[in-house]
Amino acid sequence: KNVYLEDYKPSDYLIPKTEMWIDFAPERTRITTDLHIERRAGAAEDAPLELDGEHIELVSIAIGDEVLGAGQYELSDKGLVLLAPPESFVLSTVVDVEPEKNKSLEGLYRSSGNWCTQCEAEGFRRITYFLDRPDVMSVFTVKMVADKDLAPVLLSNGNPVDRGEMSNNRHFAEWHDPHPKPSYLFAMVAGNLDHISEKFTTKSGKKVDLNIYAEPGKAELCTYAMDALVRSMKWDEDRFGCEYDLDVFNIVAVSDFNAGAMENKGLNIFNDRFVLADPATATDEDYALIERIIAHEYFHNYTGNRVTCRDWFQLCLKEGLTVFRDQEFSSDERFRDVERIDDVKGLRQSQFIEDSGPLAHPPRPSQYEQIDNFYTTTVYEKGAEVVRMLMTLLGKETFHKGVDLYLDRHDGDAATIEQFIKCFEDVSERDLSQFQKWYTQAGRPEVTYSSTYDADEKVLTLNLTQNVPSTPGDSEKSPMVLPIKFGLVSSNGEDLSWERAEGAEVHDDLIVLDQSEANITFHGVSSAPVLSLFREFSAPVSVQTRAPLEEDLHRARLDGDPFNRWESLQSAILNIVTPSMAQDGPNLDEDNLEKVASALSQTLESQELSPSFKALCLKLPTYQDFAQRLSKNIHPERIKQVRRQAVQLVANSLRGQLVTLYSAVKLPETYKPDAKQSGLRALRNQSLALLAALEDKQIFEMVESHYQAAQNMTDRQAALAIICAYAPERAEELLEHFKANYAEPMTVYDKWLGLSASIDDNRAIDRIKMLMEDERFSLETPNRVRSLVGSFIQGNPTQFAREDGAGFDLVADTILKIDKFNPQVAGRFAVAFRIWRNYESNRQNAARKALERMKDEESISPNLSEMVNKTLAG
Ligand code: ARG
Ligand code: ZN
Repeated sequence: KNVYLEDYKPSDYLIPKTEMWIDFAPERTRITTDLHIERRAGAAEDAPLELDGEHIELVSIAIGDEVLGAGQYELSDKGLVLLAPPESFVLSTVVDVEPEKNKSLEGLYRSSGNWCTQCEAEGFRRITYFLDRPDVMSVFTVKMVADKDLAPVLLSNGNPVDRGEMSNNRHFAEWHDPHPKPSYLFAMVAGNLDHISEKFTTKSGKKVDLNIYAEPGKAELCTYAMDALVRSMKWDEDRFGCEYDLDVFNIVAVSDFNAGAMENKGLNIFNDRFVLADPATATDEDYALIERIIAHEYFHNYTGNRVTCRDWFQLCLKEGLTVFRDQEFSSDERFRDVERIDDVKGLRQSQFIEDSGPLAHPPRPSQYEQIDNFYTTTVYEKGAEVVRMLMTLLGKETFHKGVDLYLDRHDGDAATIEQFIKCFEDVSERDLSQFQKWYTQAGRPEVTYSSTYDADEKVLTLNLTQNVPSTPGDSEKSPMVLPIKFGLVSSNGEDLSWERAEGAEVHDDLIVLDQSEANITFHGVSSAPVLSLFREFSAPVSVQTRAPLEEDLHRARLDGDPFNRWESLQSAILNIVTPSMAQDGPNLDEDNLEKVASALSQTLESQELSPSFKALCLKLPTYQDFAQRLSKNIHPERIKQVRRQAVQLVANSLRGQLVTLYSAVKLPETYKPDAKQSGLRALRNQSLALLAALEDKQIFEMVESHYQAAQNMTDRQAALAIICAYAPERAEELLEHFKANYAEPMTVYDKWLGLSASIDDNRAIDRIKMLMEDERFSLETPNRVRSLVGSFIQGNPTQFAREDGAGFDLVADTILKIDKFNPQVAGRFAVAFRIWRNYESNRQNAARKALERMKDEESISPNLSEMVNKTLAG
């Protein structure tokens, strides 16, 4: 049941052309497909043709005009085999599918009455018999037929070529996609939808019709997404030279969706929470996420669609590169320093945990059971870091030449990581074979450093080491190529220059460490510097060396790199507070914490730092940050309690300043979700959140009036979240108010679920069980489950990891229920348990029991089984 990279073989048959007729009808949709099949040159003459097909009912099958009888093919629940087909022929199949019964949300299903599809990775085989693999590319023509009232809108990939009326109140639409594509990029939508439209003119003057479709009544909530789309199209032309290549670009927002969105050629389908927004229902963060995901899917048009993946092991070829591109887009559209910090925070909160646990894998795995389990943060976010390192290593200009070459050389191909890397070798004439280990070797390098300064000789000596820890099933690790952006910070904050460096590749602001150890001497350094390493987080490593507090504070105050300014504040706090969280740890070092508070205070006073950056600095390390630092023998309550104590101390020390900040921030009358205004709101809300840690009556009154006076969802949700975190006894009443007044749209209802799940009191478990009975809640809609159970796991770590195991049980029970109809989502939720070995022994036992209970469940899906077994074994 394992699939191995080394077993890859090209397909013996190809399908250059595919024609489909889809007859939508309630209960049963009939799909007729003509596959124009050809044996690949070089394939054996007697090679069998093995078509994938699952959960579909074969009605008839023919080769040309000859209808095949039962003995002429082999049928199983995995597909259909023709033992010795001709060299070139047309295979016609007719199948029936039942989208109404399809709760897996893969293949063709119905969401709020609308038919839609999700094919990546292997959903197309639930629509028709096909060679459902990314290296088989076909030109699709699709004719859709449906009742005019049930489905006035009929959409598929490519360009619309024909439409018309038929008898019995039916109509049809025909779509043709001239670009050969793999089946995972196929899409159809049929239903009753409203839309908004826009026109875009590409750089070479081609006019493109843009449409965003949503359920009736929701179209005006798509305007921000449309704005983001237009900006994405422009940006991709300017920065990567990529110009849109069809006459239309359609986006459809649906309310039942397993993932965030899908990049189907010319017809992106979105989880509607990443499309719908207005100031009353969406927060600034929601807007930023919508912009990101709209851009991400659009950018796939080149990195993913024009150049696709040879096989699913290469998933990060498209995902890592496209995440990198969406990160760059946000950085260009917003504040680069803030985006970088946010992205790194995201990486640490998920990918680092994955990398340190039982599910660790490289961005390009070499084996899997279920590909759907590999849409991971390692493939996506670490994959993006690897691409970013390429840019750092080669320089922006050479990097872009490499991407240009890749998009040109492999246009229309299904490519591999090796081919991608080769393009950068060709443009840079640099050997990247060792660099490529980033794709194939799991685990995060651990780096140490130390330095000495010789004032007489003006020589700085820097010792650097790296070690890649072993990961499950892989203990042989070799050194990686680490691009280390750095600066030598002088006592007044300037970067010191140096005359020459020896001992490693060093140029300008970059050290390249490719051995397990290097001793680098910098000559001509005029005074003793404070080192600033891994500026901009130039490589995804863990620095093990704990800097003395004075150095962290020096960087926090003066480093020319905003990332390391922020990083140094965070690590100073982590260094001071974490020891007190361990069993029999020392008391909190209040004096040192005061010193950090005073550096923070200076940051807040700064004239040159942006409000968004200051807001980030006010977000002290999270529960998860501390848990990761502790890594073993975790008592969640202790982390929470010591953290609260530390936050209180900082808040107390900044109290006056925070109150002034809160009332001094002035916002324009009209709400805009742009980076500038968002930053101001973030700073105000973050000041309030920090103050609330004081648990002071007066402050709580401020928070409640902030809630009452809020003119937008950003402020309203921020206030409510503070109450949920610090005044649980007030939370229920306010949540009731929130539900009654604002939670009519599902996107807001989901926020209500999430906030409710975050309350840490002894009723938490019962509250969640009760919410699952709420009439608007359904386990069948992933957004509901993610909001309620996902927020519980992430946002309520003490209740999730209760010592009595009730939190683990609740999550395991929910996963098992969902597994019966939606294995993809069940498998993804199982990652909640990847940290189970980090807890102290009682909780470990409770978590193991929950895992074993899932494992022993009858007819557990292959998706969940892979996740549970790996989690238990690792
Ligand atoms: N390719 C999509 C994206 O990143 C995600 C598809 C998710 N599919 C899955 N089986 N998990 O934009
Ligand atoms: Zn993607």
